[in-house]
This record gives sequence, C-alpha cells and structure tokens, in this order.
Amino acid sequence: MNPPAIRVVAIAAACILGLTAATFPADEVHWTITGQNSVTVDWRGGDAEVRYGTTQALDRRVEAVAPEPLPFSSRGPFREAKITGLDQNTLYYYSIGGGPLHTFRTPPPRGGSGFTFYVQGDIGGSLDWKHVAECQALIAEGRPDFVLCVGDLTYGNSVGQHAVDTHFNDVMRWSLDAAYMPAWGNHEWDKPRSDDLRNYKGRFDLPNPQSSPADRRYPYTGGGEDWYWFDYGNVRFVAYPDPWSGAWADWAQRAEEVMAEAEDDTAITFIVTFGHRPAFSSGEHEGEPELQGFLGTLRARNPKLVLNLNGHSHDYERTYPQGGVVHVTAGTGGSNLEEESGSGCPWRGGCPEPPWSAFRAMHHVAVRLHVENDRIEGTVYCGPAGGGGSNTNDIACAQGSVIDSFTIYPYGLKPGAPKPPSEEEEEAQAKKPAPGR
Ligand SMILES: [Fe+2]
Repeated sequence: MNPPAIRVVAIAAACILGLTAATFPADEVHWTITGQNSVTVDWRGGDAEVRYGTTQALDRRVEAVAPEPLPFSSRGPFREAKITGLDQNTLYYYSIGGGPLHTFRTPPPRGGSGFTFYVQGDIGGSLDWKHVAECQALIAEGRPDFVLCVGDLTYGNSVGQHAVDTHFNDVMRWSLDAAYMPAWGNHEWDKPRSDDLRNYKGRFDLPNPQSSPADRRYPYTGGGEDWYWFDYGNVRFVAYPDPWSGAWADWAQRAEEVMAEAEDDTAITFIVTFGHRPAFSSGEHEGEPELQGFLGTLRARNPKLVLNLNGHSHDYERTYPQGGVVHVTAGTGGSNLEEESGSGCPWRGGCPEPPWSAFRAMHHVAVRLHVENDRIEGTVYCGPAGGGGSNTNDIACAQGSVIDSFTIYPYGLKPGAPKPPSEEEEEAQAKKPAPGR
C-alpha cells in the first residue's frame, strides 16, 4: 500500500483531473458521432466510466478522461469517453455508472439512407427562456438520429454561466439517445470576458476536426474543432465556422477539397452545409454577402451541394434554390424570437418577403429533415405560440401541426435528372475545338 502522503497526492490529482466519482448523478449527457465506427460521450458528474454493448448486458466499458480544453461553466467534473471499434449501423445500449439505460447508434453504411435529423439554432436554457423545454421536447418526439445545433447554443455570455449547464441539461430530452452535432455561433466566442469556446470545444469530440486561423482577440478561436465534417449514409455534412478574422476565407478554400472528394464519391448523393450565420435572411440579421459568395462558388464547382442550414435570425425562413442551394434559417430553438416592433411588419428585411424567400414564419418551430436515397424531405412543425411582446407571432398554428414542407432532389433538380456539369467541366467543354475543324 502507498504511504498516506502519496495516497493524498494521488487522490488530489485524480480530483483535479475529474476522474473520481462525483457526489451527484451524471448530467449534461450527450454524445457525438466521430466516425463510421465510433462515438464519444460527454457528461458532468457521476462515475468516470461508461458501460455499453449491443444488449442490455453492457459487456464493454470505457474510462472517461477530463476533456481538453476543460469547460468552466461550473466545477464539473466534466468527463469524456471515446468509444471506438463499434459496428456501423448498430444500436448500442449504454449506462454511465449504473445510471439509466440509453442508446447510441452508429451511422448507416456508406451510401445508406432512411435517417432523420433536426436542425435548430439560438437555443439557450429553460431558466431564461420559457420555450426552450417545449422546443426540445418537440424534437425528442421526432426521435431523430442526430440534431444539428447551429450556434448560439446557451447564451452563457449574455445571461450568465448558469445558462451553459442548464442548456446541456435541457437538451437531454433528446441528447441521451440522439447525437448532438454543434456549430459555433457569435454567442460562443465574441464576448470573451463572459464566455469562451472552452465551454463548447471542451464538451464535444468532433469528427474530422479542422482549425481556422486564430483571432488573438478571442481566446480558443483556432487550434482545432473550429469546424468539421462527417459522412452519414449518403450525405456529407460540412460545418462552417463563425467569422472571426479570416475564418470564412480559410474555410471556403479548405471546404472545397472536402466537397470535391464527396463529388467523386459514388456513395455520397448530397452535400449539406451548416453553421450559425445566414447567407440569406429577411429576419433580424440580414444575409452575409461574403457567405453567399463562398457558398455560390462551392455550389458551382460541387453540384451535390443542395442545402445550407443556419440560425442567427430568430425565426424560420426557407429560400427558393439560390444558385442551386436551398437555405433554411432555423433560429427557433427556444430563446425569444427577434421580431421588429412598431412598424406592423415583424421582419427587419421588410414586408412582403423578398423574392428569394419561399416561406417564412415568426414562430417557434421544429425543423425535421428526413433523408432517402433520392431526396431530402423537410417538415416543419409548429412550436409553442408566443404571447405578445417578445415572441410575437405572424402566423397562428396548432402546436405540432405542419406549417411548411419541402423536398430537395439530387443537384436540386427533379428526380432522375442527370448530374449537371461542374464549372470546370463547362470550361473544358468550351475550350474543345468544334467538330469538323
Ligand atoms: Fe447569433
């Protein structure tokens, strides 16, 4: 046995690293897809071990480690357990320290389909916004395989650090059994005196993590997990970073390689981008011309890119295809809507809607995407109603009813349409000498 002094040092070191059992059950539990055969589970408190298996016997186990960087919203302890060597397309049961049994699922085979995900941004915590819990419950009802949370996850930088922990508990309505795949919004990094990316990068292990150039004014920008990409069945999902200095230009150049690879991959039918800020929006935050340019160029070179998902404006809006890409703003995760007051038009971009806007609603909604081999089906469910003041609605709907639906086919065209030529192919064609010369 170790002498007492060594044992005290060992226990202190384990406490600092957060590796001992906490005095409270595991909470803030969520997991990410990290590859075809792996997931990573993150949580706070409880035991530092996850048991899992294809049956409820849970015959395998993995020790958690303290994540890097370490979140600071509360004392923790914060845990992260990487689980590798899994079978693809398989449902696993898991439990943290003998706690309740939940499930995670690995991605379908490459090229597979028949899966469902939701997208939401601008979420927050239920102690600050009354609709957060209802919006998360609506998503849970849809039993998605994963949820894209497109930035402004907690608002810890404007309402306090309690919101960070509250948010990660609120989403447990679905995040115990569906993957939580994030993108970063301005509220995660742009007021570094009140919050920074440690609370977010430290809570997620991301697939194919990529670094953007660091912006020295903002700690933890750069250095990894600024954006990432992953394949799920027949879709390549490509996240984009938030635009701290130089991040978008760098992304556009490097995303080109990630997309070009998907263009050449016969298992991939669709490319979907997701991030916080909109390229097109008639809500509180108008579309970003720089992002329109980057996405337009990427689409011209990579015709599998058909859908872009974002938040930032707290409303729901869908565009007609813009250069072949449908843009969906889903800034309705639960924090207050951002309606204009006084003018009679709640949309900062004006009334009636601009010609590119196919449908919009100043209302909380849940946005569901279902992917088949030859289509992406979007279904938008009415969320909790507002009541004047903040959250004034411009449509009336029964909670849970469908307010918008749309279908996107390969290349954004009708079913069965041939692949359009890429920009390069068109240029090569133009350079060919005409026959008979
Ligand atoms: Fe935002």
